[in-house]
Amino acid sequence: MTAPLAGSLPDPPKHVAIIMDGNGRWAAARGQSRQSGHQAGAGPVRTVLKAASNLGVKYLTLYAFSTENWARGQDEVENLFALLTQYLDSEVAELLQEGVRLKGVGDLKRLPQEVLTALAQAEELTAHNKGITLSLALSYGSRAELTAATRDLAIKVKAGEIAPSDINEDLLAQSLWTGTLPDVDLLIRTGGEKRISNFLLWRIAYAELYFTETLWPDFGEEDLKAAIADFHSRQRRYGRTI
Ligand code: IPE
Ligand code: IPE
Ligand code: MG
Repeated sequence: MTAPLAGSLPDPPKHVAIIMDGNGRWAAARGQSRQSGHQAGAGPVRTVLKAASNLGVKYLTLYAFSTENWARGQDEVENLFALLTQYLDSEVAELLQEGVRLKGVGDLKRLPQEVLTALAQAEELTAHNKGITLSLALSYGSRAELTAATRDLAIKVKAGEIAPSDINEDLLAQSLWTGTLPDVDLLIRTGGEKRISNFLLWRIAYAELYFTETLWPDFGEEDLKAAIADFHSRQRRYGRTI
């Protein structure tokens, strides 16, 4: 690791991923519905995106809906997708202005048509932006992602397009839904749970993990800065000695 020059700031983490958890508990603590918790969760998405971009983060990946979240009640699932569509429609002008490139990652074909349409539109409009890449993990689960990538590679081998010996870490990584993303440097989970919940298993191999009790609707710029400051206090060794 190179020591930063005296007085200069250390490089920010290039890729920050966040498990945005705690909306339901935030609402329950106020005697409100889970729905209002999810609604309150949109504010921090805006704040954190802006703050991350200003801090020089190049990739921000947010876990918005997991493969396993399909098992929630139909009302909650429908509400989450309505909020997401609303977010995409109302935010796209701002994303354009801020130079944000938006991407959806996950088993996107399972998403309701209106979400797919809003997502495709936002992706297309922001495709040439040069600022931070915001990836929304939707209908995302790492096991499903690795399974799909394995199946794709098997199909290519069977078709004679590649040989089994062509399969290496790079090719497998490129075959993932997150194929164009770099490895995660800093993974943040809000809401107090200390688990990964099937998020970005391949990409977090050497990520620094940061868990906070703060519930997602309460998470703000100072919380992001605290997580990044903590990241800078870590010594990343990647298995080597220093
Ligand atoms: C995270 O908040 C949002 C999603 C999973 C979509 P939760 O809804 O999981 O909130 P808690 O964990 O029940 O508080
Ligand atoms: C993880 O939160 C998924 C998202 C934040 C979208 P969950 O609330 O679904 O995770 P568990 O069930 O506590 O592991
Ligand atoms: Mg939760």
